Amino acid sequence: MTSKPFLRALNGERLPSPPFWLMRQAGRYLPEYRAVRAEAGSFLDLCYNPALAAEVTLQPIRRFGMDAAILFSDILVVPHALGQPLRYVEGEGPKLDAVTSAGDVSRLKDDRLHEVLAPVYETVRRVRAALPDEVALIGFAGAPWTVASYMVEGGGSRDFAAVKRFAYQDPVGFGALIDLLVTATVGYLAAQVEAGAEALQLFDSWAGVLPESAFARWSIAPTRRIVRGLRQRGVTVPIIGFPKGAGALYERYATETEVTAIGLDTSVPLGWAVDRLQSRMPVQGNLDPVMLMAGGEALEAEAKAIIEGLSGGPHIFNLGHGVLQHTPPEHVGLLADLIRGANPA
Ligand code: CP3
Repeated sequence: MTSKPFLRALNGERLPSPPFWLMRQAGRYLPEYRAVRAEAGSFLDLCYNPALAAEVTLQPIRRFGMDAAILFSDILVVPHALGQPLRYVEGEGPKLDAVTSAGDVSRLKDDRLHEVLAPVYETVRRVRAALPDEVALIGFAGAPWTVASYMVEGGGSRDFAAVKRFAYQDPVGFGALIDLLVTATVGYLAAQVEAGAEALQLFDSWAGVLPESAFARWSIAPTRRIVRGLRQRGVTVPIIGFPKGAGALYERYATETEVTAIGLDTSVPLGWAVDRLQSRMPVQGNLDPVMLMAGGEALEAEAKAIIEGLSGGPHIFNLGHGVLQHTPPEHVGLLADLIRGANPA
């Protein structure tokens, strides 16, 4: 039994106004984040510094009163902990030494995983101890397909040609990478829950670049293995899946992965989401992050339409992707007020 609105919605309750949090709610759009980030040195130093990572996790909660905090970390700490060199280049994003063959995969090792990630678990403990009673703590990881895409491409990508070619030409070798990520991710998420995470989100940010057969094999199947692996270890917390860009494949993802709830990207039509997804499980989403950045009447109208459109079942208000760097913090405050004041019929 819980009184935290975010967990009640994940438990299938329809609440008078939706609980909310925002993907990337901690980040560069907040001046107080930029100050801590400068103090930490590099982005990775911030992720592995429990005192500072806990502080930036709490910053948006203090300012805006979200119903959930999300652990401040990154999806790429898992490949880093598996031994793949990683750095973040200012203005360019993450860079990794690309893993492009079965031989490269065989050099990755999970024996130091928990040792490297111990500071992340300590961050979870600190945040949990500091959060107000009604605010829940979300742990997270990248889904194997999305993490593998950064590992194989060596960073972000436009066409995902390297990771797709690896998967299509050598499914056994690529499968070994996915297997390694499934196992590591189950251990990583179980440890976050043990440290105090009350819900989990799996970010499959690049699920939408795969055709159906590859989507089933490399997004749905590994996600289901993670969900089952966690349940087998006795982890009972709700799990939110976010297969960004999956389009009509959202429905297969919702029915086949065994996740508790589903995160909608901006392109998912509300009526379709009600019929095909919310009838089965709680939904989360899906305001366009650019509407939040732009502000004004468009933001207000769209936020109201989402609240109204998804008011017939369990809904957690969120964006359809992360908060953008040039978002005015005042817009987030206005959105928070609007959501809390909402009273759909
Ligand atoms: O507030 C939160 O949501 C928690 C923290 C969080 C970050 N990254 C912090 C971060 C979470 C949940 C993530 C997830 C993440 N990281 C994803 C999945 C979600 C998505 O956005 O699709 C992905 C693909 C990554 C990989 C990643 N990390 C990229 C592509 C980048 C560079 C992009 C950018 O904005 O520069 C990062 C860096 C990163 N992760 C930053 C933050 C706050 C910016 C780093 C900085 O402060 O310089």
